[in-house]
Amino acid sequence: MSERKRIFSGMQPTGALTLGNYLGALKNWAQLQDEYDSIFCVVDLHALTIRREPARLRADSLSLLAQYIACGIDPEKNILFLQSHVSAHAELSWILNCYTYMGELGRMTQFKEKSARHQDNINAGLFTYPVLMAADILLYQTDLVPVGGDQKQHLELARDIAERFNGIYGDVFKVPEPYIPKVGARIMSLQEPTSKMSKSDENENAYITLLDPPDAVIRKFKRAVTDSEASVRFDQENKPGISNLMTIYSSVTGKTYDEIEREFEGKGYGDFKLAVGEAVVEALKPVQGRYNELMSSRDYLTEIARKGAETAEYLANKTLRKVYKKIGLVPRP
Ligand code: TRP
Repeated sequence: MSERKRIFSGMQPTGALTLGNYLGALKNWAQLQDEYDSIFCVVDLHALTIRREPARLRADSLSLLAQYIACGIDPEKNILFLQSHVSAHAELSWILNCYTYMGELGRMTQFKEKSARHQDNINAGLFTYPVLMAADILLYQTDLVPVGGDQKQHLELARDIAERFNGIYGDVFKVPEPYIPKVGARIMSLQEPTSKMSKSDENENAYITLLDPPDAVIRKFKRAVTDSEASVRFDQENKPGISNLMTIYSSVTGKTYDEIEREFEGKGYGDFKLAVGEAVVEALKPVQGRYNELMSSRDYLTEIARKGAETAEYLANKTLRKVYKKIGLVPRP
């Protein structure tokens, strides 16, 4: 066993990731890979809480794996796999359901939001979603979970479940901590810069995806909402649009806010928006190149998924067997 701390994270396969996913999460994950033992999962089982076209889910799952790698996550250094390939996730999830209270799940903000949004399909999976997430994390004796603000409550619940279980049966699970990266930009919507950039936004001008072609990227930045002051200056409160564009520009070019303010002193927003668009196009170019390459080498991609699942399964089953034994299930003869 290595001494390095273990990180687990996952994303749902729901199409192309956004620039926000990339600059806010994936780019940082790629920087963690030398320091930590990292496991990155395509959480395809989580995606079932919303009705999906089977062919679409299948395509999106491999596509997400390719996007992980294209963003710099090295399959040689990290474990990359699809959640449904390791049955221990579903199995532990059932067990943990029996150690989680209805009241706890009913308090989850995301459940309340999602059930309000999908009134016609408030299924039990939507309700127990955080338990499956707890299983994902606890199976691997995870030390750290990089999470955005919207997942913090779920991680808290995973910690509560782990502590409750350990309290009854002894130390079975490592209690995971949230990992809030020091860097890592919070990228906002281009149309409504006070809310997070999200691919579920109805207005597709509000977000950039990793797979957007250059002309779409430029067009969306040209249409980005700003203000009427006409000065490129960082002021999140009064100038959320411009500040967001500065954050994006800074993330992709490495320039500081001071440098950006100087660069665009006396220039109009049109020039600035175009510069941001062009810088993003440049940043996405190698990602898209690598992505296209991966998507046309299916065998390579499926081999990564196969190897990843094999390693993940070995680790997960160790925890699962311990759990089964502790709670009194008869070992399979
Ligand atoms: N629920 C997370 C989201 O929607 C995805 C996820 C599933 C996850 N399992 C996880 C994230 C485990 C971190 C760790 O973003």
